[in-house]
Amino acid sequence: MSGDFAALRGQRVLLTGGAGFIGTHLAERLLDLGCQVVLFDNHRRDSLGAVPALQAKEHVTLVTGDILDRAALEDAMQGAAVVLHLAAIAGVSSYYAEPLRTLEVNVLGTVNALEAARAAGIQRFVDFSTSEVFGPDAMWVTEESPHGIGPVSDLRWVYATSKLVSEHFTLRFGTAHGMATTCVRPFNIYGPRQTGEGAIGNFCRAVVNGEPLQVYGDGSAIRAWCFVTDIVDGVLRTLVSPNAAGKVFNIGNPREVETTLGLARRVAALRPGTKIEMRDVDRTDVRARIPNIDRARGELGFEPRVSLDEGLAQTLAWFEEQRG
Ligand SMILES: NC(=O)c1ccc[n+]([C@@H]2O[C@H](COP(=O)([O-])OP(=O)(O)OC[C@H]3O[C@@H](n4cnc5c(N)ncnc54)[C@H](O)[C@@H]3O)[C@@H](O)[C@H]2O)c1
Repeated sequence: MSGDFAALRGQRVLLTGGAGFIGTHLAERLLDLGCQVVLFDNHRRDSLGAVPALQAKEHVTLVTGDILDRAALEDAMQGAAVVLHLAAIAGVSSYYAEPLRTLEVNVLGTVNALEAARAAGIQRFVDFSTSEVFGPDAMWVTEESPHGIGPVSDLRWVYATSKLVSEHFTLRFGTAHGMATTCVRPFNIYGPRQTGEGAIGNFCRAVVNGEPLQVYGDGSAIRAWCFVTDIVDGVLRTLVSPNAAGKVFNIGNPREVETTLGLARRVAALRPGTKIEMRDVDRTDVRARIPNIDRARGELGFEPRVSLDEGLAQTLAWFEEQRG
């Protein structure tokens, strides 16, 4: 497998949001492949704190900065060939609590990252979008499926809109300025070091705290769950593929589909005695989300490998270790 990525050896890769959940996993893999990595992050969230060994490694540079500061981004990008743009405000409660900030960071921050990348002579730029761009019903959606985002009056869609605008900026910027730009749409990623609000992280935190797992609504909402090492593989493939520039790719695992209640039951079964509680949902819910990944399979050779049960066991074990 590492042979597929030999072309990355020796490259300097800047990750905005590099101290985050997916960023730290990407950074570790890039280091294994012989890259130098620059982690640019304002530490709004901190997954890096859970892997002190990563910061201490040779070929890792940590830059504390904000993506709203274009000059800082441009400085940090000097000498890099690739930018992975992950920094964003994510998490459903943030869209409700900080909608304007979410729009500013996610849209203006992406424009800054693109402009800084152009000024720094970056060759490849990957923008992290989201499966939320499909709105509340997203069953087997392809990259060309329509965006059924809900009304502008509902704060639930602030994040999705910011990410969709960022996709347009990324692709149009690439065409206008001759930069190889790509967007990836992660579908429900989970794994060790996730500090955000995903259901799996929430369930694991509840288990280690000896609390019941809280399932919102009637538990019938459906998601396809993708383990973090699989998205890392998909993203790296966009960096070495001749077919990735100018395109958007769904990255997820359509085989590992589960309802929220089913997910809670699987986690509870790992630690017998864990209780499940049903709670009313007070926000717009996304009912169903499963990606069609034929484009990533066909054009990148992407294939998710980690089953939900295997990934859940690893994730829960990590949360327990942290607690210990
Ligand atoms: N995890 C998922 O399931 C998922 C799903 C869809 C999309 N995504 C997208 O993938 C990307 C990475 O997600 P993640 O799960 O690793 O999230 P994360 O929150 O763990 O990581 C994002 C990082 O960005 C940093 N950041 C936030 N605002 C910043 C700013 N103004 N300047 C500099 N850094 C800033 C945070 O401190 C954090 O370390 C995000 O763009 C997210 O929207 C993630």
